[in-house]
Amino acid sequence: MARKRVAILISGRGSNMTALIEAAADPDYPAEIALVLSNRADAGGLVRAAEAGIATAVIDHKAFASRAEFDAAMDARLRAENIDIVCLAGFMRLLTDGFVEGWRDRMINIHPSLLPLFPGLDTHERAIEAGMRLTGCTVHFVRAKMDSGPIIGQAAVPIALDDTPDTLSKRVLTAEHQIYPLALALVASGLATVENERLVMRGDLPADIASMLVSPSFGD
Ligand code: GRF
Repeated sequence: MARKRVAILISGRGSNMTALIEAAADPDYPAEIALVLSNRADAGGLVRAAEAGIATAVIDHKAFASRAEFDAAMDARLRAENIDIVCLAGFMRLLTDGFVEGWRDRMINIHPSLLPLFPGLDTHERAIEAGMRLTGCTVHFVRAKMDSGPIIGQAAVPIALDDTPDTLSKRVLTAEHQIYPLALALVASGLATVENERLVMRGDLPADIASMLVSPSFGD
């Protein structure tokens, strides 16, 4: 089966982007990274993508009068590149309903909490503040409401009593880098789909992937 063409949308350092690029370097991986698109020319991830030989593009949101026009420009670029699946990886712009609908069930996101807990920003600070002993990360299909949509995979990560948002974010990030490539593989291979706004798995999920998607092996 032909590998799905994936675009990764970033705004910053792109460590999740790098995890996806590394996974897709395996010819057996069901997706290839065809484009990395950033809304910021200074996103560190652009350099890392170019070093890996991936095509990059910058579409500066500040050059557009409205969100809709910015999203239309991104949409046009993605379609011109024959993109099948869009991965949001630290992309810090809210997307319009029209853009999200246009990529319905073909756009996924990673978020550093166990959704539906803690959508939005400062997730680690809020989890620590709430006295949680566990947090984690979530890969989900994107819907118009921010950080919502059918969940593909989650990883639980313990919170130490002396964690700071910084120490916790490092531990969660390790788990993010493990589950995002797995979740994309499930979507790109057609194993993971959506029915009635819930995840449906077609066929059996390999046991190692199934366990990784709920409990990764991570170190400090
Ligand atoms: C990650 O924590 C991701 O979950 C969130 O934004 C951060 C991006 O980090 N959506 P990076 O650019 O992938 O390193």
